[in-house]
Amino acid sequence: MPILPIYTFDQPVLRQETSQIEDDSAELQKLIKSMVITMRNADGLGLAANQVGKSLALTVIDLKHVKDWEDGDTLVLINPALIGTEGESVFEEGCLSLPGIREEIVRPEKIGVKFLDRNLKEVEMDADKILARIIQHEIDHLHGKYFIDYLSPFKLTLLKPKLSKMMRGTVETEYPLAPPYVQHHAVKGKVKRLRGM
Ligand code: NI
Repeated sequence: MPILPIYTFDQPVLRQETSQIEDDSAELQKLIKSMVITMRNADGLGLAANQVGKSLALTVIDLKHVKDWEDGDTLVLINPALIGTEGESVFEEGCLSLPGIREEIVRPEKIGVKFLDRNLKEVEMDADKILARIIQHEIDHLHGKYFIDYLSPFKLTLLKPKLSKMMRGTVETEYPLAPPYVQHHAVKGKVKRLRGM
């Protein structure tokens, strides 16, 4: 299973609504396995399919950070949707698609969520604390949303130098990144010109 390159700010696939998954397939199971390996390699808490360039409503969560969890070590959520929220908490979030950025974000403290598991079996569960936090962050990805979208315009302005670096592809990470969107096209143009010579 290959480690997949992670897409960063502001690739179009990370801003689009992802597609619901209707059927199981060998391809889907392969993608799930690759996403788990990619998440572990990057030391991430969770990973959404569009973070590896696949516009599908699928996310994986590493449960090694979740206390008292005994049912396996990875949670796979297909077509997840919140069915209830309660309370409020503040937590410092980061994201593999926003390397070097960590910000305190307010979200509901407890959630109810429904989804299909990796065998496409329907599941409803409650979550709180860090697990509730990760699930909400990942569901946002599947709707084209980053956690920094919750920040004030002022705080966002302060992040602009870091975000520009991501868009130029000059950010450094310990895990492989997909080529940035703009640069990718610039390189294509260059290749075309060379061929024309
Ligand atoms: Ni993220």
